[in-house]
Amino acid sequence: MLISFILLGKYLEVLAKGKTSEAIAKLMDLAPGTAILLALDDQGNVISEEEIDSRLIQRNDLIKIIPGAKVASDGFVIWGQSHVNESMITGEARPVAKRKGDTVIGGTVNENGVLHIKATRVGSESALSQIVRLVESAQMAKAPVQKFADRISKYFVPLVIILSFSTWLAWFSSWKVPWISRILDTEIHG
Ligand SMILES: *[C@@H]1O[C@H](CO)[C@@H](O)[C@H](O)[C@H]1NC(C)=O
Repeated sequence: MLISFILLGKYLEVLAKGKTSEAIAKLMDLAPGTAILLALDDQGNVISEEEIDSRLIQRNDLIKIIPGAKVASDGFVIWGQSHVNESMITGEARPVAKRKGDTVIGGTVNENGVLHIKATRVGSESALSQIVRLVESAQMAKAPVQKFADRISKYFVPLVIILSFSTWLAWFSSWKVPWISRILDTEIHG
């Protein structure tokens, strides 16, 4: 029963970890795959737009976010006005108004206007990556009571098995089964 309970416990732990891994995968999916990279001339006019892999975004890159698209990177608005649904990161249910100077978070959804943003934190520095890292480290960490239970079971189970086996041995040897008594006698008395 002990071993079954411990195995059941481990099994539940594995299930829970699987759930968290799913949650992490969903978080990662929030980041859009592509982004529109802008090039500006000296007067601040857009001279070119290029679709790039969003993992290639560098700090200080200018990114265009069209209505309905996901914000490709953490950054701040340099041009345009819109509302952004940030519920997946902040939990705020209503879309948040964004204008020049406001910060935006990668993975949130732009609603109605075009925004030009300047990327600030990219890659592992982004809010999304930090959330994923936190969830991962929480997944690895064990609760103190769980560590305690592990320590107890590490000694408890072998102890119980050794005790029960020696009880059985003592009981069995008192049966006067000739060959067992003989083995025990030779072991004890040489
Ligand atoms: C914001 O996004 C969330 C999840 O993607 C969605 O459930 C919610 O309805 C959106 N809010 C608005 C106001 O569109």
